[in-house]
Amino acid sequence: MLPELPVELTDFKPEIGLILGSGLGFFADDRIDVIGRLPYDAIEGFPISTVEGHAGQFVYGDLNGQRVLCMQGRFHFYEGYRMDQLTLPVRMMHQLGVQDLCVTNAAGGINPCYVPGDFMLIHDHMNFLGTNPLIGPSVDGELRFPDMSEVYDKSLRHQIRDWARTQDISLQEGIYLATTGPSFETPAEIRAFATLGADAVGMSTVPEAIVARQLGMRVVGISCITNAAAGISSGPLTHAEVAQTADRVRLQFADLLAGVIALI
Ligand code: HPA
Repeated sequence: MLPELPVELTDFKPEIGLILGSGLGFFADDRIDVIGRLPYDAIEGFPISTVEGHAGQFVYGDLNGQRVLCMQGRFHFYEGYRMDQLTLPVRMMHQLGVQDLCVTNAAGGINPCYVPGDFMLIHDHMNFLGTNPLIGPSVDGELRFPDMSEVYDKSLRHQIRDWARTQDISLQEGIYLATTGPSFETPAEIRAFATLGADAVGMSTVPEAIVARQLGMRVVGISCITNAAAGISSGPLTHAEVAQTADRVRLQFADLLAGVIALI
C-alpha cells in the first residue's frame, strides 16, 4: 500500500524523477531551483535512510523549465529494508505522474578501461541481489512478467551519447551489476563478474529500475565510477574513497546530469 501522496508533491506535479546516489546528493542543491524539500520522515509509512552521506529527503524544483523531483538519499537493501519498501518511492513518483526516471549511483569499476572519476551510462544491468522487487502477490493492472529486454531507454541512450560527444564529457557505457553489499566484493567475485560481462558493480539502482519499467516509466541510469573494484585497485576499499571521488568530480557530474535531464 502506498502512503497517502503528500499534498506538496501532488501540487508540484513532477515530470521527472531523479534518484541521487551516494555522494551525489549535492546535485539537488547545486543545480535545482528548489521549490521545496520534504524529509522522508515527514511522510507517514515511508522508510528512513540510514546511510552516511544520504540526507533522506525529497528536493523538488525546476531545472531548465522541467519539474524535477529528486531523492536526496535512497534506500538500500543492505540497510535491511524489504524490496517493496526500498522501491516505494518509485511507485510514489509514478502515482505523482512521473514518466521518466533518472537513476544515479556510485559504483566500482570492473572494466579495466575505467578509471575513478569516469561516468558510465548504464546500458543494461545484472541483478545479483538474490531477489526481485516484484516478488509478491500479483497486483491488478500490473504485469506479472514484465519485459526487461530494454530497461534503460535505448533512444535516450543514443541521444545522451551523441550529446556527451559534443561536450567535454567522457562517458563510458556499460553493464551495471548489483550486489547486496554492504561488504565490498572479493577480488574473486570481481573476476567472476568481469567474466560475466559486468563493467561496474554497486549496491543499488536495479530494484528501482525494475519497478519503474514494470510501471512503464522510461529509465536512464548513470554511474559515477568512484573506485576500481576489489582486486583491480591496489589497496583496500573504503566508503571514504567513494565519497571523495564523487566530490572530486562534482562539477562534471552535475554538468552531465543536467545535460541528461535536458534530453529527457
Ligand atoms: N562495490 C560495490 N559498490 C560500490 C563500489 C564497489 O566497489 N563503489 C561504490 N559503490
